[in-house]
Amino acid sequence: MKALVLAGGRGTRLRPLTHTSAKQLVPVANKPVLYYGLEAIRDAGITSVGIVTGDTGHEVRQAVGDGSRFGLEVSYIPQEAPLGLAHCVLIARDFLGDDPFVMYLGDNFLIGGIAGLVGSFEEGGFDAQILLTKVAEPQFYGVAELGPGGEILRLEEKPEAPNSDLAIVGVYTFSPAVHEAVRAIRPSGRGELEITDAIQWLIENGFRVHSHMVDGYWKDTGRLRDILECNRIVLEGITPGVAGQVDRMSEVTGRVVVERGAVVENSVLRGPIVVGADAKIISSYIGPFTSIGRGCLVQDAEIEYSIVLDGSSVDGVSRIAHSLIGRNAEVSRASGVPNTHELMIGDHSRIQVRA
Ligand code: G1P
Repeated sequence: MKALVLAGGRGTRLRPLTHTSAKQLVPVANKPVLYYGLEAIRDAGITSVGIVTGDTGHEVRQAVGDGSRFGLEVSYIPQEAPLGLAHCVLIARDFLGDDPFVMYLGDNFLIGGIAGLVGSFEEGGFDAQILLTKVAEPQFYGVAELGPGGEILRLEEKPEAPNSDLAIVGVYTFSPAVHEAVRAIRPSGRGELEITDAIQWLIENGFRVHSHMVDGYWKDTGRLRDILECNRIVLEGITPGVAGQVDRMSEVTGRVVVERGAVVENSVLRGPIVVGADAKIISSYIGPFTSIGRGCLVQDAEIEYSIVLDGSSVDGVSRIAHSLIGRNAEVSRASGVPNTHELMIGDHSRIQVRA
């Protein structure tokens, strides 16, 4: 069994972060989303992993390397443009050979691992196995319509009028039969070779396709609120530990991680939170479900339910919530007159100011 991890795509819904960085590397509890997937693959006993990369390939390579850090052997498969998930299978043909494989979308976040999925695929002798879960807005996903016995009747990619609320999760297992399917289908309305169409092709051509409900938690982290929620879920389960310095004036409650080299002075930390290595928290309040990246400065500020990436500063501003702040960004208080907001923000940024 091999694994094909997809780490290309444009990440349009997480701009401007994704102008400069891969969406799969946005951190959840200070660890890139992609790493959780790679660990799940390793824990399912798979070592040979192909990672499909796009424009941000350089950064993904830098983050994952040869995979040895994860106990994996990683090869890279560059995709010249985001032409669809089935196109990724097409270009990975040489890497995959005739082995069965699990395909894992690098921005998907699945708690509970994939060992169960891989095991039932191997035992069942299926040609494809998909994971399904109920969602509130199925029109944004691939959608499955099931028959009375749980058999798959039809799969459709992002239907305008979905026939069910069962979304297809971005973790699939395939036998080599899928190679015929990806060659047979044509690009969809959005110009991509859809894996959903390839699986539908397998069903129509008499191959054995099985579906399985996700038992645990699943999110596609492509949107701000989803990544913040993943951050919440992971932080709820972290093991607290203070390796940095917290002074006597500070108050720490709940699950709080303060990584090595971090300094906390005269502040209130109310967990679950993680404060990255070498960060400085001075005279501030860090509220629940917040991840502060490495080397950040939070001073005379209040922040909660947010993610701050490495090297950023928040100074003199209260209270920031429900926010994602990119790398090396500065948020600070304006002073003097006139009473203005002064902004220099990236393309496709979103700012909500309480005036
Ligand atoms: C892709 C698949 C879709 C699936 C989703 C899960 O969508 O095409 O069927 O439900 O991943 O994350 P995309 O993220 O490419 O829009």
